[in-house]
Amino acid sequence: MKKIAILGFGIVGGGIPTVLEKNADPIRRAVGEPVGISYILDLRDFPDSPYADRVVHELAPILADPETEAVCEAMGGVEPAFTFVTACLEAGKSVVSSNKELVAEKGDVLLKTAAEHGVSFLFEASVGGGIPLIRPFSTSLAGERISGIAGIVNGTTNYILTAMKREGRPFSEVLAEAQSLGYAERNPSADVDGLDAMRKILILAALTTGNLADRSDVTVEGIRNVAKEDIEAADALGGSLKLIARALIGADGSLSLGVCPMIVPEDNPLSAVSGVYNAVSLTSPVAGDILYYGRGAGRLPTAAAMVSDVTAILSGAAKAEKAPVFTKRAPGFCRPFNGEKGSCYVRAEGSSAELSELLASLADSVEPVPGTAGFVVGGASAGEIEKALPDARIIRILR
Ligand code: HSE
Repeated sequence: MKKIAILGFGIVGGGIPTVLEKNADPIRRAVGEPVGISYILDLRDFPDSPYADRVVHELAPILADPETEAVCEAMGGVEPAFTFVTACLEAGKSVVSSNKELVAEKGDVLLKTAAEHGVSFLFEASVGGGIPLIRPFSTSLAGERISGIAGIVNGTTNYILTAMKREGRPFSEVLAEAQSLGYAERNPSADVDGLDAMRKILILAALTTGNLADRSDVTVEGIRNVAKEDIEAADALGGSLKLIARALIGADGSLSLGVCPMIVPEDNPLSAVSGVYNAVSLTSPVAGDILYYGRGAGRLPTAAAMVSDVTAILSGAAKAEKAPVFTKRAPGFCRPFNGEKGSCYVRAEGSSAELSELLASLADSVEPVPGTAGFVVGGASAGEIEKALPDARIIRILR
């Protein structure tokens, strides 16, 4: 039997034993023998768990155990996860992680440490939960030029925006309901303020270009300020309002990164992604459009993604693949997202004629949106419009 350890026995880490049990046959087929759990590291004890005898409160027994070949890190946060993962890699153990904050902040260092010690650092579960996304990005698409990524990568905010649209309810009411149902955390900031999606687009952009940008380079706007009028504007344009994580990628690997509510036209499949589902679309000038879709969050889908990495390690598949290399870029590497020209919906107080005239001086086209007080503006950047109209509501349209 092959042995793995788990760091963090919370929602996701606690789902790993279930996945190992439910998928025991295919895992045995892929790996060549069964996979079991040697140790579980957590601050807490779990006296009622069938795995109670494997719980430890120190990393040392895991590092010292020659039978533990791979370690699943599901602790979250940068520290102490970074210290623990580094110690495991240095001890010759491959690590799989669901921790997007860790990968977005320290992925470059951890991939280098893994390579130096002849082991793997895999993070399939860090973006898109149960959607097999990371390995295709770093293997199947390695020879592909990707010019754009647009993703719905946060299930909580997609649940909230879907309910606001379907039920016409305000943000605060839907958030409270999502919290009571356990979809949103008691402190929802990482989700509703766009930070979780920001980490995920940093990871996807790094996989695509090799450049791990600094978080300060990502323009981030969450969904706290989404008003009923914004949802209605998206409806009037025949689309849906979604929190989109966007990467615009130059042929030279240059990047422009943003997370913000965007109007997604109905002919874009992302407009139909509802509830807690995630989807990531890629644009390739050669291969065309590619879409990944599935359950982006939740105990078993995310634990299954971790176990898929474990299977790749224990079967030898991970070693046969070329691992990604991330180069950490200093702040200022990315082009400002606000400077990218495109289409926006713009609404502002005051005379409609004056607004239209002012927008026309900035843009290539200005069209009123029937049934709303706003205009679709083409060929201007959100930054230019914001400078001229600091109080306007500006919502980018995904094209
Ligand atoms: N809070 C995240 C979400 C969990 O809602 O998508 C998965 O990363």
